[in-house]
Amino acid sequence: MQCVSQIEPRVTWLRMHLMKESNKHTHWSRKAVVYQIYPRSFKDTEGDGIGDLKGIIDKLDYLNDGTDASLGVTAIWLNPIYKSPMKDFGYDIADYREIDLIFGNMDTFDQLVTEAHKRDIKIIMDFVPNHTSSEHPWFQESRKSNTNPKRDWYIWKDPKPGGSAPNNWLSVFGGSAWTLDKVTGQYYMHSFLSDQPDLNWRNKEVRDEMADVLEFWLKKGVDGFRTDAVYHLIKDDQFRDDPPNPNYDSSRDEPYNALLHLYSQGRPELIGIANTLCNILGEHNADTFMVSEAYLGLPQMMELYKACGNSLHAPFNFNLISLPWNAAAFKKFIDEYETKLGENDWPNYTLGNHDRSRLATRLGQNRARLAAMLQFTLRGMPFVYYGDELGMEDVSIPADSITDPWGNNVPGFGVGRDPERTPMHWDASPNAGFTSVVPWLPVASDYKKKNVEQESRDPNSMLSFYKELIHYRTNSPALLTGFYKPLESGNENVFMFMRECPAEKLIVGINFSNSEQTTSVSVNGTLFCNTRRGKRGGEKIQTTQLKLNPYEGLVAKLNQ
Ligand code: NOJ
Repeated sequence: MQCVSQIEPRVTWLRMHLMKESNKHTHWSRKAVVYQIYPRSFKDTEGDGIGDLKGIIDKLDYLNDGTDASLGVTAIWLNPIYKSPMKDFGYDIADYREIDLIFGNMDTFDQLVTEAHKRDIKIIMDFVPNHTSSEHPWFQESRKSNTNPKRDWYIWKDPKPGGSAPNNWLSVFGGSAWTLDKVTGQYYMHSFLSDQPDLNWRNKEVRDEMADVLEFWLKKGVDGFRTDAVYHLIKDDQFRDDPPNPNYDSSRDEPYNALLHLYSQGRPELIGIANTLCNILGEHNADTFMVSEAYLGLPQMMELYKACGNSLHAPFNFNLISLPWNAAAFKKFIDEYETKLGENDWPNYTLGNHDRSRLATRLGQNRARLAAMLQFTLRGMPFVYYGDELGMEDVSIPADSITDPWGNNVPGFGVGRDPERTPMHWDASPNAGFTSVVPWLPVASDYKKKNVEQESRDPNSMLSFYKELIHYRTNSPALLTGFYKPLESGNENVFMFMRECPAEKLIVGINFSNSEQTTSVSVNGTLFCNTRRGKRGGEKIQTTQLKLNPYEGLVAKLNQ
């Protein structure tokens, strides 16, 4: 009897493991194109100037109606829609199991899941495990007394002799990471706003409660999670001071960068926590996917990949956002990423999100097209930020109208995130068809030219180009699942690689420069897709030295 009970769990584990292994190559994430929706800015149907869930439902056909006329994405990631006082626009959660009234209610959410699934669109929820809102009932309990049963759910410490904060840790959003609670005389820790106290992930009750939160949403039918701020989850158990950053330049760098955050984040125990999260998901449903938010270089990314071993998890790859715009830098990073990934690890590429300046603002429209071509032709999961498919750009917000707490608390360093969160451009009507009243953030002035309706009619628009790329990808076995094979282009301005599978061989060439470039690569095949306006697939290419026009990117199918 004893032997059986010891063996049984092992057998179950093995069965689950094998199931996951075989599932990995056919898993939906392998073919997914993920579209990030910032719900406040997508579509307002209630007339309050703020986007809502009903608005998302109304626009699902734009995202994927099963035809080439729609964008063709296969998953949406929603920024937080939970009950929240909105101090950090939803990243301050007051109830993990409720929808905020601004966005709708649970019935509308259920309807969204049903309608999305009808169109084969998966739903990825934002999961914010590092901190709650200070208005969350758990924190309200925790702060009542030093002996409250929920006291240890958060990170409380005595002041230093003299009354100052327990150590020098900084908040990402400015100032100390510690706030004194006058009632109990202790400080609580917050990696972000003081309205966002950090949960104590060393406490088992917290871990169990969060597992339960994940289960709750999985039972509602969601398909995956984007896990917020994972690198902050575990802090040093001895609360040591962070050392100064020797490269800090106060005239250029925001104050948070004055320290190296060795002890306040990214502790080794994080790997165990990430593993626990993955196991919770895997045990519930081997079909769930998780992507973790952390801005990491390759070595730490690889550790996070390994943390989850065989489960379906990837750390976000934000590196293309910060790389200098040159072919050599992109090649070096992508070749290394591809080499280091384990056989079952799935790459991913993000070009923009709600925390970073928009793609077309950072790179300009021509380079943005090239970056999109790269994103959809590389192996792995592309994440598209809403509006980037239209070439939307940052909107400059006057100082007295800034709504983002980071922008308000740390002025002068360009960290404010309002510019990249402005309303989606649907058409040329007032407020870009986003709302019938004054929107919560201003609409960009170029919306009459750059909007869904207008760009859908123009075969050379950014939107038509995105659609073309996404549909090529969806129908190309090599782009979906083929190998990535690095190539030497023989020209420092041109990045080239191949995507190969038994059924087809593709070659991709990206000219990073604004002048014509000649490579040493011979191509014998058919043009599949091209960044140049007016030039479409089908054209034969036969050359011993492929030439590319200024800022031209192309994909060609090689004759086998
Ligand atoms: C990362 C999110 O992307 C960001 O928008 C948020 O402000 C912080 N985490 C805090 O939750």
